[in-house]
Amino acid sequence: MPIDEITQKVSDRYARAASTGEQMCCPTSYDMADLQSFIPEEVLKISYGCGTPAGLKTVSHGETVLDIGSGGGIDCFEASRLVGPTGHVIGIDMTDTMLAIARKNAPSVAVNLGYASSNVEFRKGMADAIPVIDGAVDLIISNCVINLAPDKRKVFREMFRVAKPGGRFTISDIVADQAVPQYLVHDAEKWGDCLSGALTLTDYIAGMVGAGFLGIHLLKSSPWQVIDGIHFVSVTLTGYKLPTGAPVSAVRYATLRGPFSRVVDELGTTYLRGIPQPITPDTVCLLSQVPLVPHFILSSGPLWLDRADDRWTAVYPADAPCLWQGYFAMLAGPFVEAADDDNHVYRRGEPLEICSKTLKVLEADGYAPHFVIINRAGQSASGDAVTCSPDEGGCC
Ligand SMILES: C[S@@+](CC[C@H](N)C(=O)[O-])C[C@H]1O[C@@H](n2cnc3c(N)ncnc32)[C@H](O)[C@@H]1O
Repeated sequence: MPIDEITQKVSDRYARAASTGEQMCCPTSYDMADLQSFIPEEVLKISYGCGTPAGLKTVSHGETVLDIGSGGGIDCFEASRLVGPTGHVIGIDMTDTMLAIARKNAPSVAVNLGYASSNVEFRKGMADAIPVIDGAVDLIISNCVINLAPDKRKVFREMFRVAKPGGRFTISDIVADQAVPQYLVHDAEKWGDCLSGALTLTDYIAGMVGAGFLGIHLLKSSPWQVIDGIHFVSVTLTGYKLPTGAPVSAVRYATLRGPFSRVVDELGTTYLRGIPQPITPDTVCLLSQVPLVPHFILSSGPLWLDRADDRWTAVYPADAPCLWQGYFAMLAGPFVEAADDDNHVYRRGEPLEICSKTLKVLEADGYAPHFVIINRAGQSASGDAVTCSPDEGGCC
């Protein structure tokens, strides 16, 4: 399908939904009672996101927030409250009907929040040609939109362009556990359902890294649909446009604490748990970002750790039989590759089959935030027939 045709069909679909108030889309976890206290019903009922932009929790007063594909404006209005009257929120959308509803409701939200005038504006524009000047935005959010854009690389490049150095994004979107086949890609109806345009998690994160973002990591995931064996999952990801010119720092080494036994960061450096790794100033900057901090000890001189040290972390698999029940784990950052203590090597976004024992390991605190877990066997797998024991070999 030509790009213009996809865009037109998606826009028609959302215009129709907005004008009829049709219920659509995916799992979100808004506190609706709270939102109803200041956002009109007309906006809330056309909330078509697939997550909650949890990154809004990181917003400070006075910041500028951009919402790509703002729809009826639900996330813009929540951002409006959080940035306060001195902050600024820009929603962009390509669909006139959506823009009209959002614009119409902005003044009442401002009144409900006690602002002298609205701090939200809605601009007509495309995700791959964002009508915002370079380096203007502290936080970019988007809720179930980028999968609808035919050229995602262009969208990621645009996001990087408009973000301030030191800025960040939090995006909820639909990804797939494998490449979406052509017969679905060319299904116009499924574009509007946020399915046909879904990237794999690997390609999604690689696209963002390719655009220049780093420290990309998972905030949340939840299953969405399984179609013809393809698992579509809603993920919420955050990443950073690191400040230009790494700050002066005495740090020269990073020692991996665990629980991973080995990791490769997005700049290509490999770390082995407990062994000091010399690092560059750019890497110091990357490893100082929130999601990476708990994994490392940064030091000016080489620092070795052994397992007797409190700072060494590990989650060992139980010495017990395991069952193959259809579970697969997908690493979702902040590393490109990571190994556990049972010889599994997880590559970002690539589903790796795991047994019940490994599932338990990955559900532990140090691991759980980094993985999307899917079950390709459906409900029926008991695993009984494929029990294995570590003593007999052949186990994971
Ligand atoms: C699934 S709805 C989500 C709306 C909103 N984010 C929410 O959470 O309710 C997708 C929205 O993105 C807009 N949209 C889709 N593709 C777009 C694109 N390429 N550029 C700009 N807006 C787009 C649609 O018009 C629609 O309003």
